[in-house]
Amino acid sequence: MNRQENILTDSFGREHTYLRISLTERCNLRCTYCMPAEGIQLSPKSHLMSFEEIYTIAKLFVDHGVTKIRLTGGEPLVRKDAATILEKLASLPVELAITTNAVSVDRFVDTFKKCGIQNINVSLDSLQPEKFKQVTRRDEFERTYNNILLLIKEGFNVKMNAVLMKGFNDNEVVDFVQFTKNHPVAVRFIEFMPFDGNAWKLDKTVSYQEIMQQVNFHFPEGKVIRLQDAPNDTSKNYKIEGYKGSFAVISSVTNPFCDTCNRLRLTANGQLKNCLFSASETDLLTPLREGKSIEPIIKEAVHAKFKVRGGMDTLDKLQNPDLHGKNRSMIAIGG
Ligand code: 5AD
Ligand code: SF4
Repeated sequence: MNRQENILTDSFGREHTYLRISLTERCNLRCTYCMPAEGIQLSPKSHLMSFEEIYTIAKLFVDHGVTKIRLTGGEPLVRKDAATILEKLASLPVELAITTNAVSVDRFVDTFKKCGIQNINVSLDSLQPEKFKQVTRRDEFERTYNNILLLIKEGFNVKMNAVLMKGFNDNEVVDFVQFTKNHPVAVRFIEFMPFDGNAWKLDKTVSYQEIMQQVNFHFPEGKVIRLQDAPNDTSKNYKIEGYKGSFAVISSVTNPFCDTCNRLRLTANGQLKNCLFSASETDLLTPLREGKSIEPIIKEAVHAKFKVRGGMDTLDKLQNPDLHGKNRSMIAIGG
């Protein structure tokens, strides 16, 4: 394939080999940082991609060079045909992965295995049941926690996301790192990011620097080991010497990693987002339903991708609600 002409290469030469597909805008949790308290207006069902349409679009991206597909939501596993979609996508020559809140993963372990899914990202923002309830607005700590342990036991490669918020769970950094002592899991601290309706303020974000200060203060010098990050990695990876697991920081706010971005996103209602932070979207589903070729549309959307964070290249711009408020709520984008 001529790289110059690849429809998935943008104007900065970034090749997009990773597609994240949101299966639904629904979720069985209500995380405060992800969705507004009043909920969101859901797309009518007829506006959502059917499983055949998901497959058709996914295959087209794979034909153009996508090698990895991650399913997201909302919570992807609340969709009734989630298992069917997984099985269908597993027939494509791609690495298939999923991001889930783990509330119902126990029912999917066999499907994951059948589909060759190895990489599973789960969310756990607190190791304390009360706090978990506060942030997710649901009382599901036990199920979630036990399901994460189940995934680890079943041998999946588990990454555990914790969005840190100042004064709320930033005092759990060391506890999370301690969790990696006996569990072969990668804990990922995520800087709290602004999306529509999540009451974001920069001073609620716990920065990469602050997280590492806590780690370095607690663990003896020389025990905190910086690991080699994988190409296109969004995280800075570390481990404590002798621990089974590792930990990392995803610093989208203080230290964006857009230079090596290889990601595109497809929302549940068939809109292509060329960046997590992009205010604009490109409708693929309508032209697909009209029988049009969507390749030129994809090419144009990828070409229009900004260099950094949907154009919010400075912290000042990121802090401007007129800019970040144009984006959807995270629940409707797909983590
Ligand atoms: N800031 C940072 N991460 C977020 N996620 C959702 N909303 C936000 C936000 N505002 C992440 C969570 C979850 C994944 C689906 O998306 O870590 O695990
Ligand atoms: Fe659901 Fe994940 Fe959003 Fe929480 S962060 S409401 S689990 S989609």
